Amino acid sequence: MNLTNRTFHIQTFGCQMNERDSETLAGMLTEMGCTEEPERDKADIVLINTCSVREHADERFFGTLGQLKKIKKQNPGFVVGLCGCMMQQQHIIDRVKTKFPWVDIIFGTHNIHEFPKLISALVQEKEKQIDVWPDGGEIVEGLPSKRKYKFKSFVNITFGCNNFCTYCIVPYTRGRERSRSPEDIVREVRALARDGVKEITLLGQNVNSYKGISSSTVTADAGEDRLSVEKGTGEKRVTTFPQLLYMLNEIEGIERIRFMTSHPKDLSQELIGAFRDCDKLCSHIHLPVQAGSNRVLQRMNRRYTKEKYLELISQLRGARPDIAISTDIIVGFPGETEEDFEETLDLCRKVGFDSAFTFIYSVRKGTPAEKYEDQVPEDVKHERFARLVDVINTSAAEKNKAMEGRICDVLVEGPSKHGQEGMMSGRTSGFKLVDFPGNMTKEGQIVKVRITEGKTFSLRGEIAES
Ligand code: 5AD
Ligand code: SF4
Repeated sequence: MNLTNRTFHIQTFGCQMNERDSETLAGMLTEMGCTEEPERDKADIVLINTCSVREHADERFFGTLGQLKKIKKQNPGFVVGLCGCMMQQQHIIDRVKTKFPWVDIIFGTHNIHEFPKLISALVQEKEKQIDVWPDGGEIVEGLPSKRKYKFKSFVNITFGCNNFCTYCIVPYTRGRERSRSPEDIVREVRALARDGVKEITLLGQNVNSYKGISSSTVTADAGEDRLSVEKGTGEKRVTTFPQLLYMLNEIEGIERIRFMTSHPKDLSQELIGAFRDCDKLCSHIHLPVQAGSNRVLQRMNRRYTKEKYLELISQLRGARPDIAISTDIIVGFPGETEEDFEETLDLCRKVGFDSAFTFIYSVRKGTPAEKYEDQVPEDVKHERFARLVDVINTSAAEKNKAMEGRICDVLVEGPSKHGQEGMMSGRTSGFKLVDFPGNMTKEGQIVKVRITEGKTFSLRGEIAES
């Protein structure tokens, strides 16, 4: 199918998984001859990659569709496609079908690879295409990708989630957990390194439970790979997440390895060991705690305690003293009392997070917590949220202040988004954003930056060597 001369725009909501999926969709459209259009309302094809997790996701999504309706009215040839987590929910599809019948293509999280087929069918048959799969089948390898950055890349290692935290919709929208084989991952990362990528971020809902199986077919064609897979025996071998990190640490050209997201219940001693041993593993871990009260953690089905979490933090700091720690926290989970909430504040003070994504609990249709009767009143949730943000901002500012005077390795990402002329920004190994005077010549390079000011949400610095 050739869509030459057509332009496309992909609007992405939500997490890094969706960002990565959008890069695949952009790769497919590019292979079909389309070009990317930065302005959504000027594009011939608009894809909305939706999210079910972020707050007010439904309202924002239906608002966006409302805006697109005007363009569709003026230009019936304009193509609108919907995908992502929201499309895995029947009540959303029903609403789209009745309220927005002009939408051309709908597909889900499990059949992204079918998108070229769907858009070809739409163009040829002039009939709208709706195809959402309830579950994921085999992982489809080798899909194209149009990366946003030349020098850094996401790499999927697992898809789906088996944890069923009681507030969370992801196990229903992304299906059961599946891991890619280590050979496929290593092959992809080697290709990225050859393409100039310096930093990779391994993606999964719970990377710690990665279980990569080396199948006999993969073993046979692993050929020249130095992966120590038992060649030709056809025996299945399981690779754990820390083992995968050790493998990736060996790949020439890759200078930084990150991963997202970790679940505390599966964070092993081997992973802590990897922070000691793997020089390319960045000094940062995003380790969602969600709550500090053991009673609430249990009702969330998180399967660890406050004490266990604190112990993990001290072990991680033992292995990597400068490790930056970020987290996700939900306030106002059903049944959360003032005492429970104070446990969360206490945990935050004890850990001293570098940063946190803070969420006000809101019901997700179809999750167990939807049925919990002791929902916390809105005003209480908001009051707690403000107190939590205060505690987080205090520790974030302290951590950043403590970096003043230090010289850090910074991967330069591009012009500063804080708007000042002549300023560039990049990330430290600890994932902290640094703004510093500079120009585009350093983009994609790792440079030494002296930190001159630690603010609450970012750092300021100056290049320490050129
Ligand atoms: N309400 C509020 N926050 C939620 N999250 C997931 N589901 C909900 C919900 N129903 C948050 C969790 C998770 C992050 C990605 O989103 O903190 O780690
Ligand atoms: Fe959702 Fe819990 Fe799975 Fe994370 S681990 S995606 S919060 S169910």
